Amino acid sequence: MQILVTGGAGFIGSHTCVELLKRNIDLIILDNFYNASPKVLDRIETITGKRPALCVGDIRDEALLDTVFAENDISAVIHFAGLKAVGESVEKPLLYYGVNIEGTVKLLSAMDRAGVRKIIFSSSASVYSDEAACPFSEDSLTGCTNPYSWTKWMIEQILTDLHRADDRWKIVILRYFNPIGAHPSGLIGEDPKGIPNNLLPYVAQVAVGRREKLGVFGNDYPTPDGTGVRDYIHVCDLARGHVLALEKMEELPGLEIINLGTGKGSSVLEVVSAFEKASGKPVPYEIKPRRAGDKPECYCDPEKAKRLLGFETEYSLEDMCRDSWNWQSKNPFGYEQPE
Ligand code: NAD
Ligand code: UD1
Repeated sequence: MQILVTGGAGFIGSHTCVELLKRNIDLIILDNFYNASPKVLDRIETITGKRPALCVGDIRDEALLDTVFAENDISAVIHFAGLKAVGESVEKPLLYYGVNIEGTVKLLSAMDRAGVRKIIFSSSASVYSDEAACPFSEDSLTGCTNPYSWTKWMIEQILTDLHRADDRWKIVILRYFNPIGAHPSGLIGEDPKGIPNNLLPYVAQVAVGRREKLGVFGNDYPTPDGTGVRDYIHVCDLARGHVLALEKMEELPGLEIINLGTGKGSSVLEVVSAFEKASGKPVPYEIKPRRAGDKPECYCDPEKAKRLLGFETEYSLEDMCRDSWNWQSKNPFGYEQPE
């Protein structure tokens, strides 16, 4: 069994490759390094003792996809490759619809031509509607407010239609909540380019001295301390969820949508305090206006993942902050730091 991991050099992809290699599952990464560093491959090799095969290229390149399927013995695909910045998607919708949707349709078409009809897809909790109440279960109301989230919603629809048309397909759609943390070795982690959009990388960069202070986007939400509540999940737990989905795929009826989260919400101020404790560094902050499009709270009902995959998270918020800090303090400038 060889697994094609698109976007395998990225944040979640690299941690999933480590989990696969740990279980002796052979894989090949397809990535164009749009948002990743080739150094990830060395780091994966250091952690696992195995160097993953790599194909550098774009998921929209049909000829390349056909070659990858022809030259390798691929049995399933884990599809991470795509663009993920909400703000950028509002400014550049065609780029997002192009990479995420056109890229996925081309990948699915190449898989179909090659007779490889098993896929795990990275969806997002951002497909849940503002009208739905927490905890979100897989049948909660969906609806989106930005092009990024619409791409995830539309790809879920494409996969559903594909499975309806041809039931040879085995499809698992994983809706991630907020992945944070890093591999405990501190060798791989999240390395955003420019100013981080997401909370944890921003907090980590303040703690390491790269940024002066955190802006907290709103403290007047209807939550216990007024700041936004999210379901943070350690990226290694998330990665393990993919391996379980891969292992259970054969037994599942055909297409399943599954939340991957802890089921527990934490506020921005709880995260700041946990990070200060884990790092021993102060994280100064100031209250800013709410960020457009943010929900007051977003956390999942994790029951389906437990029932179908036997998946339960193992890492606490403290563990997530400790591992984020370990990565950030060892690699203050991410992968580009002199080795
Ligand atoms: P990431 O940006 O670190 O990883 C994506 C990878 O895809 C990168 O290595 C990038 O170089 C590659 N890539 C981008 N465009 C490509 C293309 N056209 N061809 C080939 N490779 C390409 O992001 P991540 O955080 O690891 O997220 C992985 C997936 O999970 C994405 O689809 C993302 O939308 C989804 N997701 C992420 C989060 C999150 O908070 N990180 C939450 C929900 C869903
Ligand atoms: C964001 C994306 C979402 C994506 C998810 C995971 C938006 C609007 N949503 O969600 O589509 O799936 O990331 O990648 O971008 N916060 C601050 N200060 C900061 C950054 C964040 O206070 O500098 C707050 C936010 O208001 C929120 C919480 O921290 O309450 C988490 O924010 P973030 O990490 O960006 O994740 P999401 O908003 O859940």
